[in-house]
Amino acid sequence: MTGKVAVTELTEEQAKAELVRLALAIGKANDAYHAKDAPEISDAEYDALTLRNAAIEARFPHLKRSDSPSEQVGAAPSEGFGKIQHKVRMLSLSNAFTDEEVEEFDTSIRKYLGLAPEAPLAYTAEPKIDGLSLSIRYENGRLVHAATRGDGEVGENVTANARTIADIPEQLDAAPDVLEVRGEVYMAHADFDALNIRQEAQGQKPFANPRNAAAGSLRQLDAEITRARPLKFFAYAWGDLSAPLAETQMEAINRLNSIRFSTNPLTELCDGTAGMLDHYRQIEQQRATLGYDIDGVVYKVNDLALQGRLGFRSTTPRWAIAHKFPAELAWTRLEGIDIQVGRTGALSPVARLHPVTVGGVVVSNATLHNEDYIAGRDAKGDEIRGGKDIRIGDWVQVYRAGDVIPKIADLDLSKRPEGAEPFQFPNRCPECGSEAIREDGDAVRRCTGGLICPAQAVEKLKHFVSRAAFDIEGLGAKQVEQFYRDGWIKTPADIFTLQDRYGTGKQQLKNREGWGDKSANNLFQAIEEKRKIPFGKLLFALGIRHVGEAASNMIALHYGDWDTFIAAIDAAKPLEGPAWDELVGIDGMGTIMATSLVTAFAQEAERASIDALTAHLTIEPATRPDTTGSPVAGKTVVFTGTLEKMTRAEAKARAEAMGAKVSGSVSSKTDLLIAGPGAGSKAKKAADLGVEVIDEDAWLDLIG
Ligand code: IVH
Repeated sequence: MTGKVAVTELTEEQAKAELVRLALAIGKANDAYHAKDAPEISDAEYDALTLRNAAIEARFPHLKRSDSPSEQVGAAPSEGFGKIQHKVRMLSLSNAFTDEEVEEFDTSIRKYLGLAPEAPLAYTAEPKIDGLSLSIRYENGRLVHAATRGDGEVGENVTANARTIADIPEQLDAAPDVLEVRGEVYMAHADFDALNIRQEAQGQKPFANPRNAAAGSLRQLDAEITRARPLKFFAYAWGDLSAPLAETQMEAINRLNSIRFSTNPLTELCDGTAGMLDHYRQIEQQRATLGYDIDGVVYKVNDLALQGRLGFRSTTPRWAIAHKFPAELAWTRLEGIDIQVGRTGALSPVARLHPVTVGGVVVSNATLHNEDYIAGRDAKGDEIRGGKDIRIGDWVQVYRAGDVIPKIADLDLSKRPEGAEPFQFPNRCPECGSEAIREDGDAVRRCTGGLICPAQAVEKLKHFVSRAAFDIEGLGAKQVEQFYRDGWIKTPADIFTLQDRYGTGKQQLKNREGWGDKSANNLFQAIEEKRKIPFGKLLFALGIRHVGEAASNMIALHYGDWDTFIAAIDAAKPLEGPAWDELVGIDGMGTIMATSLVTAFAQEAERASIDALTAHLTIEPATRPDTTGSPVAGKTVVFTGTLEKMTRAEAKARAEAMGAKVSGSVSSKTDLLIAGPGAGSKAKKAADLGVEVIDEDAWLDLIG
């Protein structure tokens, strides 16, 4: 690539042609390196190609190709790594959110061990590092392999990458013949900031937080990339061992430290819960100055013999618990309120915030839920959120809990700007001008425009092509928006006639900006492949209000094939009679979902759109999944508290699809309690009964 034109001098035509050449060259280099293990160009040449590609894309963003090589960097696909079966399972920790829950942890341990409340019982307390866990196996003092946690049983082989981390010794002296050291790979704040500056300078996307950066760096197929990333490692546990490390947790950690592992200096021995809670507060105070992210404090029974007696539940040890910190908070100014119109017509207010860092992530918007939330009063006029209404210009407190959308926790009325007016929630759709109404008992105002509302139509199409629905390669949200805007795709059925209309003739897809012969053909082919679609996926893809992924699969399983379902839905139209009773009687259904389903199919325009679509499809009937091998088959599980990643109905359906029985109350027959924030009496009862309690993440890990 010598003699190339400076990026600033390139004409658009030249840039376009060069992006094609670069995509080919980088693709070929990737293939040679990763798939064939036979690099054809040097790392420096490769870097030069990717940098040039990024620079051209930065100058001509609209020329960025759908197969741009810059979209293909980052975390490598897991298939790229070999698998390692953990000799000893890598477990997760159950969580405590309050002092009382920590006390319950201590009580249940004493009960299990038959210890009196006043008998001495020592615990270690140490920071919970917010990174990713790694298991490193040493045989005769030599590092043999390193694996991520994966599903706890089988992890990814990241040995070459782990070897590049300075905190991970290659050779150990005075270690047992077999020693699996476990701990957390993390990235320090200063290193994270510097990495993001480099990423941006190279035209690459910055990482959202140090944990993502650590995970993305460790899970690189190219260990040289990992080497260039400043990863660190704290050892805090072990797996397979040929001889015990020590008699207590504290001594074992000290032993790991003496054989050259970094262990956390804030690990301390505490006597009983008072000492644990005291150390928790000290660590919480130091949190901001530690220089790396932690998200709680882990308590472990110190005596390893007692740990052995306490043993494990299915995914968590009985002898340890993570005491999580509350969600992080930050104050900032509310600069505006936007109204977004969703797939089902819901008008969702979004807070536009002056950017602020919350828990290491820059936040510039937050959900405001609905108009009542903004007004601080519910439909009945009762106060919510303390009754303070939210106005543009207000000083608001934002919080993030885990990876969920930021929310407003509070506002400071003393800082309200003079003349700030109460927010007037629109009663017309900002996108199509149709009336926006609130139905009785619904906190949400909805646009009544249906498919004539461009926002609803586009959102429906985006949902239709999304990963859990039709998942058409090359047809993502961005493309759908462009096709909709230009009138090429207005309804789902249009996707399946795209090739007929724009494959040949005057106007052709391959001649469109950003498309070429290959990408157009690839898209047509990807669409062809999705003409055959499972019943449940199709139903979910239609985006009917209240009918989520799990519910769609449940309905599909109940009726078996599409024609039977259509006949039943039509027969249920009066919202009474045997067909209606059958529909409502489906486990987990309920009248709200059933009404929404029947109404959608009875609505003329919507039904015409569905029928036009299905005429292009082969719909595969639904069959019951095989649950043999499912870790929860035959188990009785209970959900309590707030679930953040899915609705209760979805969680229930997923559990049932995996062969579990979902119950509403905890009893001695309960095998597992999945407790989210706010869990109350059920969690307490489970603790009393010695029932295993895990959080939503651990549950998701368990069911894969
Ligand atoms: S002990 C058998 N100690 O937290 C229990 N885990 O939420 C082994 N973690 O998967 C884990 N800091 O990745 C332990 N000081 C610490 C930890 C820690 C972070 C992670 C670990 C674990 C997860 C559970």
